[in-house]
Amino acid sequence: MPNSTQTTARILDGKAIAKEIQKELKVDVTKFTKETGIVPKLAAVLVGEDPASQVYVRNKQLACERVGMLSELHRLPSDTTTETLLGWVQRLNADSATSGILVQLPVPKQIEELRVLDAIDWRKDVDAFHPYNVGLLSQGRPRFLPCTPYGVVQILYRSQLPTSGKKVCVIGRSDIVGKPLASMLVQRTSPLGPEWANATVTICHSRTPNLADVTRDADILVAAIGQPEFVRAAMVKPGATVIDVGINRVGDRLVGDVAFAEVAQVAGAITPVPGGVGPLTVTMLLSNTMIAARLQLEQN
Ligand code: GUN
Repeated sequence: MPNSTQTTARILDGKAIAKEIQKELKVDVTKFTKETGIVPKLAAVLVGEDPASQVYVRNKQLACERVGMLSELHRLPSDTTTETLLGWVQRLNADSATSGILVQLPVPKQIEELRVLDAIDWRKDVDAFHPYNVGLLSQGRPRFLPCTPYGVVQILYRSQLPTSGKKVCVIGRSDIVGKPLASMLVQRTSPLGPEWANATVTICHSRTPNLADVTRDADILVAAIGQPEFVRAAMVKPGATVIDVGINRVGDRLVGDVAFAEVAQVAGAITPVPGGVGPLTVTMLLSNTMIAARLQLEQN
C-alpha cells in the first residue's frame, strides 16, 4: 500500500532535460561562432529591485555563459519612466552586437508595459511577446516560440508524451503562458513535429464553472495560475500528465500551482517545483537568442 509520502507518478526531470538541450545548444553556438565570427548576445533590462526578478535574470545570464553566448545586464532604477526605458530599447534595437533583447517583467507600475514590449524589434524579441510574433504563432508560422510554453512542449517531447489527439487543459489565460501554449498545441504541427501539436485544448480561468469537471477530463493538465497548490488530487484524471508552471514563494519554500504530494498519487507523470518547467524557460530563451542571431545574419 502506498503511504502518504510515496509517489506513484513518473517524475519529469526538467533540470536533466534542460541540461540535455543546453548541451546541444552549446554545439550549435560553437559552430555558428566558428563560421560567422559572431557570438550571440542577450541583453537583459531589469527595472527596479524585485528580488525574484533579480534571481531570474541572473540565472538567464549564467545560462548564456554556459552555452558560449554573451550576456549583458542593464539595471535601471525603480523610478525609471516609460520614455527612458523606450530609449534603452531603441539603443539595443540599433546595436548590431545585440542578438536578443529581454525586458524582465513585471516592470514598475508607472511604466506602460505594452508600449515597451511593442517597441522591441521583433527580430530580437526572444520572449516572443511582440504582437507580430504572437500573430505569427497564432497563424502557425512562428519565428520565435514563447519560452515557457515551448519549455512545456519540450518536456513532453523529450519524455515521449505526445499531445496529438489528446485532451489538454490549461488552467490560466496569461499572455506569457496560458494563451500562447494553447495557441501552440492546437496547431497542425510544431517545430518538434505533428505529434507535439494537434491537441484538443481547453483554457480554464477564474470564471470557468465546474472547473474540476473540466480538469478531470484532461489527459494532460497544465497549471499556470500563480496560486500555490491550487490543483488537488480530486481535480486530476488518474494517469494524467500534470505540468506545473507555477513558482510561488510560501514562507521560505518554493511551491508550484499543484499540490505535488497528493497529485503524484493520482497522476501518471508530473513535473516537480523547483526542477520542472523553470529550467526549460531559461533554456528556450537561449535557443531563441540563437535563432535571433541567425535571423539578423539573414537580413544583413
Ligand atoms: N517574468 C516572468 N516570466 C517572464 C518571461 O518569460 N520573460 C520576461 N521577460 N519576464 C518574465
